[in-house]
This record gives sequence, C-alpha cells and structure tokens, in this order.
Amino acid sequence: GGAAGDGGFAGVGDIVHEGLRNLEYRGYDSAGVALVGEASGLTVAKRSGEVNNLTVPDVPDASLGVGHTRWSTHGPPTDANAHPHTDCVGEVAVVHNGIVENHEALKRDLADHEFTSDTDTEVIPHLIEEELDADSETTLLDAVRAVEDRLEGSYAICAVREGEDEIVVARRGSPLVLGRGDDATFVASDVTAFLEHTRDVTYLEDGDVAALSADGVEVYADGESVDRGVETVTWEADAAEKGGYDHYMRKEIHEQPESLRQTIAGRLDVDGGDVDLDVSFPPGFLADLEEIQIVACGTSNYAGRYAAQLFEELSGVRATVEIASEYEFGAGRSPDRTLVVAVTQSGETADTLGAVRRANAAGARTFAVTNTLGSTVTREVDDTAFIRAGPEIGVAATKTFASQVATLTMLAVAIGRERGALAAADARPVLEGLRDLPGAVQQVLDAEPTVREAATEYGDSEAFFFVGRQLGVPVALEGALKLKEISYDHAEGFAAGELKHGPLALVTPDTPVLAVLTDGSRADETMNNVTEAQTRGAPAIGCVSAGEEYATLDVSLPVPDVGLVEPLVANVYLQLFAYHVANDKGRSIDKPRNLAKSVTVE
Ligand code: G6P
Repeated sequence: GGAAGDGGFAGVGDIVHEGLRNLEYRGYDSAGVALVGEASGLTVAKRSGEVNNLTVPDVPDASLGVGHTRWSTHGPPTDANAHPHTDCVGEVAVVHNGIVENHEALKRDLADHEFTSDTDTEVIPHLIEEELDADSETTLLDAVRAVEDRLEGSYAICAVREGEDEIVVARRGSPLVLGRGDDATFVASDVTAFLEHTRDVTYLEDGDVAALSADGVEVYADGESVDRGVETVTWEADAAEKGGYDHYMRKEIHEQPESLRQTIAGRLDVDGGDVDLDVSFPPGFLADLEEIQIVACGTSNYAGRYAAQLFEELSGVRATVEIASEYEFGAGRSPDRTLVVAVTQSGETADTLGAVRRANAAGARTFAVTNTLGSTVTREVDDTAFIRAGPEIGVAATKTFASQVATLTMLAVAIGRERGALAAADARPVLEGLRDLPGAVQQVLDAEPTVREAATEYGDSEAFFFVGRQLGVPVALEGALKLKEISYDHAEGFAAGELKHGPLALVTPDTPVLAVLTDGSRADETMNNVTEAQTRGAPAIGCVSAGEEYATLDVSLPVPDVGLVEPLVANVYLQLFAYHVANDKGRSIDKPRNLAKSVTVE
C-alpha cells in the first residue's frame, strides 16, 4: 500500500508503517517502505521479520510512500527479498502482490541488469527503468503502462520514482483499493490499512492503472481515463482492533453473537417461512437446477460441507463439495443446470478464484458467498451473498465460518422455497434456529470457563480426534483444523463411523476424543463410536444437545436447542478449546507459523 500527501505531510513514513501493521494478517515474514521527498529523493528501508521489526527512516520532506508486508512465494524471507524492490540506479521502487509468472523469461531479457533478490517482483522496477531510459520524456505512469503489457500472472503494483510526486499503481488479479482523503490519497490491498484516515474508497478493476497524488486520483483503463466512483465504508475502525482481548482470535470468537446478528439482519421472515438474500436467479433457472457444486478452501470448505447437506435436505438439489484447487467441471453435467457456489471469506483466495474461472469457462452459473465487498470473486461471479461478519484479523477463521454457514443455510432455504421443494412449515423451524443462533452462541461463550478447564486438563495429550456424523462431520473437521493450526498439535477429524476402520489403532489414554452429539449429527450412533474409543482408554469430551445426557462422557458441554444449526453452535466450543490449548502453550495464536490469512497464490 501507500500514501501520497502534500509535501512533507505529517509523517508519511509513519502512516505507511501503521497501514502495514493493519495489513499484517495478509502476510508478515518481511516488511519494507520506500519514501520520496522533493529534496531527499528516494529512501528505501526493508528487512525480514514482522512489520514492527522495521525501522522506518525519518524523511521529513517525504510526500509519498509505499510499503509492503510479505508472505513469501518466490525466494525465502530475507532482507534482500523484502519489498520494495528497486532498479539498478535506485531511482524507482516497487511493491507487488501476486506472481509474475513469466519472470524468468523477462529476467533473461534484462541480462545487463543486476538483480539483488530471488523474487519475481524485481523484474518490474528493472522493466520500468528500461522504459524510462529509452526516452527522457517518459513518466512513471507511461512506464508502468508499458510494463504492464509485458507481465503475465497476477499482480497489484505500487511504484514510486525519485523526482515525481505521484504513486502509480496497477492491478490485475490481486486486490487494490484507493482511499480518498481530503488532503491525502491512499492505496492498499484492503481498506483496513487506511480506515483511520478515510472511509471514502474507490475499488480498482482488473487492468486499471492509476496515478495518486495529494490532490486525488486519475484512473485509466485501456489508456482512457475512467471514473470508478467512490463508495463509503461503514465498518467501524475499532472493529478491526483487538478491543480488550489478548488475541484477535478470542475477540472474534466472542464477536459471534454480534456478527451472526448482522448476518441474518433483515433477511429472515420466520412467520412466512422465507428468506430474502436480495439475489434473483433468471426465470426458470432454479426450477431446472440439477446440481449445486460448492468450491472452497480450508475452513470455507468445511462451511461448504455443512451447506451441501442442507442444500440436499432443504433445496432438494444434489449438492457436492470440491476442494477448490481440485475442481474441474466434470463430465455428465449440464452447465446451464448447475450452480457453482464459491465460499471464500476473503474473496481473494487464488485456488477458489481458479475454480470460479473454470466454472465460468464451462458456462455454469456462479455464485459467491464472501465477507469482502469489492473483492475479486464478487467481480467474477453472477451473484453474491455477503456474510457481513466484519473484518476478521486472526489467521484462524472463526466468526466467518459461523456467518458462512448461516448465510448458506439461508441460501438453501431461499432456493428450496423458490423451487417449491420446501414448504413454509418446514422452513420455519430452520429459520427459528437461525433467529435463535446468536443467543445460543452467547450461552456457549458464557460457558467458556468449563472449556478452558478441559483445555488445561487435556491440552498436553499426544493427539486429538474429533468425530461427528452428518452435520457433525464438517464441524469435527473444522475443530481439528482449528486446533492443529494454532496449537501445532496433531489433530484429526473424521466421520465417527470411520473411527473403527483405522484411526482406532491410534487411540490410547493419551488421545482425547471430542465429539459432536447434537441434533443433525446422529448423536446416539456417534456416542457408540465414542464409547469404542473410551473402551481403549481415551477420554471423551462431548458437545451435547441441551436436555440430553451421556453419563459416561468425561466432559459434557451443553448446546442450546436450535435444530439444524446446533452443530454450528457446538463448533464454538471447539474454537474455544483450540484457543485455550494453544494459549496455554504460548503459541502465536493470531499468526500461526507458515500460515497466512489470505492465500493469493495457487
Ligand atoms: C487460508 C486461511 C484459512 C482459510 C482459507 C480460505 O488458508 O488461513 O483460514 O480458511 O485460506 O480462505 P477464504 O478467504 O477463501 O475463505
């Protein structure tokens, strides 16, 4: 990202540094800034490590700055590989997200240039340098435009040049948003970077190039000046801060009653047994629909697995879930009778965008369920439903999972109703469950001390197994994922019936079993499998529907009665369990090793 203001405007370096801190969830293995002042020229500082390790140089006359926080794709996180990257003479500096796929070929064309890093990015400042050297009249804007034509792959670029008072940016495939302040202009991958300075934003589209100065922005598409409009962001700035909790993750777990309330706000007609998601399909499309294919990665994939069962049950349509990176539009399907639903919190996950592109190419109708307004996925699909969970900073997804499942449940009802596959009377109990969901989650949060105790008692075990049936399976998978990603302990989730087909060999008194024993998860049968593990000495922790009792459980965690969304409520216990196990071990909860919040490479 970057900021441009009037000459020497209040600490441009500090503003860029703060913006990077706000963006650290996107990557945090190295950081750097480049500042430009009229007299001081170009000053670059960069190093490996977190944003706070970076000392931003004091450049009092700086009027422009760009900065970057990196999550390595090409080249390890070293000082040299950190962005910004510069040309040979140190006149131009560039920060870049994405991948320049043809960087090796370009590097060969730049044989007489000296490279100082292993990154794909470094070709960009050198290509710009060639353009500038070719003709003394060439501006940075001209040069970036020319270079853009030579880059293959995805990118968001910000470039500055000594002696010019503009930041030039370009986007293709990676997000870029402009902030339109009164006396300064901002650019970043995400509005969170500059929300404290302005809420007026302009989203760039793929192929756009823009020049930012203190006075404003000029956006170009295909060489022509274009108006991309201005939108106002309504998120509260403090919603993106930690608000009293030690970790964003715990804050976000506790935000779930509120975020779920936003998710369902104005969308449920409980009495009428209907849902209004403000999406409309072409006439006849839903009636003829043969299949819903859900594509997603990570936690979003588990939200998709939850939803697939609901689509079958409530919408009466065959539903499948694919890991986005594996997805192909397979044989035997009619594209015009298939709805492909991409579930992606960020809307920027490269694997998921790839799946959407393959679905679009096959001619299927595409639909996004996302948290991020203006994200790339929203521009590539036919329709979008926003989950409205607010910004999520912790790398481990929590509240967005809950809001994804809630939104997908509403979508399943909406489709079922419109197709005539679901009677109002049958929709009503589902909608009542959604309506009562925030309160039910609050009751689970109020029981946090019990989970914390269980985490302390069992946290040092050798491994953890999570089981459930039906809607309990995706929750078991998600519970295991949460625990492994933030505690680094071995955790595995599977369908309870599979326990006896292999994993039981691993069960010992040192491997607790956590089970979903609620509505929608065939609790009694699941409990039989839990007992098989207990017979081998394993301790058992169960999330149990209120009013039910399994006397042999070592720990019983009550789940309020909300029908088909009970497993989703049980998931909140598993989030808290993962959090406390990891916290007891002093792990880096919000930024687990090797992981990033938003993975924009395939
Ligand atoms: C990354 C994150 C996961 C997330 C996945 C999908 O791997 O670490 O928490 O579930 O991406 O992200 P998306 O933004 O597409 O939901």
